[in-house]
Amino acid sequence: MSQDSTPARGRRPLGPSGARLLTTMAQARALDLAGRTGLLRLLARADGPVPDPAAALSLDPETTALVLQVLIDADVVSRGPDGFRARPWLVEAESELVGGVDGTVQALGAGPEFLQQGALSAAFRQRSYSPETVLGLASMFGAAAAGLAAALPKVDGAILDLGAGSATWSLQMAAQAPGARVVAVDRAPVLEAARLAAGPLGLSDRLQAVAADLTCDPWPAGPFPRVVLANVLHLFRPPAAAGLVERAAAALAAGGQLVVVDAIGSVGDPTRDAYALQLRMRQPHGTVHPVDELCAWMRAAGLRDPQVLPLSTQTGGVLPLGAIVATAPESP
Ligand SMILES: C[S@@+](CC[C@H](N)C(=O)[O-])C[C@H]1O[C@@H](n2cnc3c(N)ncnc32)[C@H](O)[C@@H]1O
Repeated sequence: MSQDSTPARGRRPLGPSGARLLTTMAQARALDLAGRTGLLRLLARADGPVPDPAAALSLDPETTALVLQVLIDADVVSRGPDGFRARPWLVEAESELVGGVDGTVQALGAGPEFLQQGALSAAFRQRSYSPETVLGLASMFGAAAAGLAAALPKVDGAILDLGAGSATWSLQMAAQAPGARVVAVDRAPVLEAARLAAGPLGLSDRLQAVAADLTCDPWPAGPFPRVVLANVLHLFRPPAAAGLVERAAAALAAGGQLVVVDAIGSVGDPTRDAYALQLRMRQPHGTVHPVDELCAWMRAAGLRDPQVLPLSTQTGGVLPLGAIVATAPESP
C-alpha cells in the first residue's frame, strides 16, 4: 500500500520538478540494472556494435529495450544501424575503474540498511583486498606516484610502506633513488601484488614484504627515513586513523618524513563527496578525513610542518588526491 498521504486533490500538475525526479531515477535505475546484469560490461568491452544485447545476455527483450533507450538518452549508450555501442566515456571507464563498470555499479549497491543502520549488509561487508584490486589501484595511481616521488627528496635507506598493497607509492620512490629500498607491510595475500609490481621496475631485490595486520601486529623495527601511509587512513575511523599516524610517526628516524596520501578535497566538491559516499559503500568505516584533521594528527604525533601537495592533476583532475608530508624533528 502506498505510504503517500497527500490528498490527490492537493496535487500540482506534473511539472519540471516531478519530471526531474522521474528522469533522474529512471537513469540511475537503468544504470544500476545494466551494471548488475552484465549489460554495461558487454557494451563497454565489445569490439563493435552489439546487434541484440538482450539475446546475448538472455534478458527480456522488451524491458531491455526500455533500459537501453534510457541509457541512450543519458549518453551512456548509442544506437546505430548495426546495433548498440557504449559511449566512449563508458569504454574508458571500463578500463579506468578497478572492477570495471559492472564491478563499480555492484560495489555501490548498498541497500536501505546503509541509511537506516549506517551499516553495510552482509553482502557488502568488508571483503579483503585482493592482489588484483591493489594492482588495479597501482595503474590508477601510477602516474601520481611517479610525480610525488619526483617532487620529494630522494631517500637513502628503507621506506616503510604501511598498507602497501602493490606498494606503488614507495616503489616509485625507490625507483628514483638508488639508495632506497621498500619494506611493504600488508596482509599476506596482498603482498603478492607488491612482488609483482616490483619485478618490472627492477626492484625485486630492494623489496621486503612483511605480512602483518596494522591494527594489532608489531611493525618492522625502525627507525625509517620515510614512512608511507597511502590510501589507508580513509579505511579507519578518526581515533584509529590518528593512532596509525602516531605509530607511523614513532617509526621515523630523526628528520625522516611521514607521507600520507589520500583524498584531500573539501565538502561541497562533488567529486570528493561522491568519493566519500562510495568509500563508505565499499568499506564499513570508509571516510574522507578533512585535511586539517590529518595535519593535526601529524602535529600531535610530534611531526613538524605538514605540507599539502595536491596530486589531482596527475589523476586527470578527477580525484582530489593529495599527499601530506610532515617531518620528524632532528635529534637534539
Ligand atoms: C586502498 S588500499 C591502498 C593500497 C596502496 N597503499 C595504494 O595506495 O595503492 C588499502 C590497503 O590497506 C591494507 N590494509 C587495510 N587494513 C589493513 C590492516 N588492518 N592490516 C594490514 N593491511 C591493511 C589493504 O590490504 C590494502 O592493501
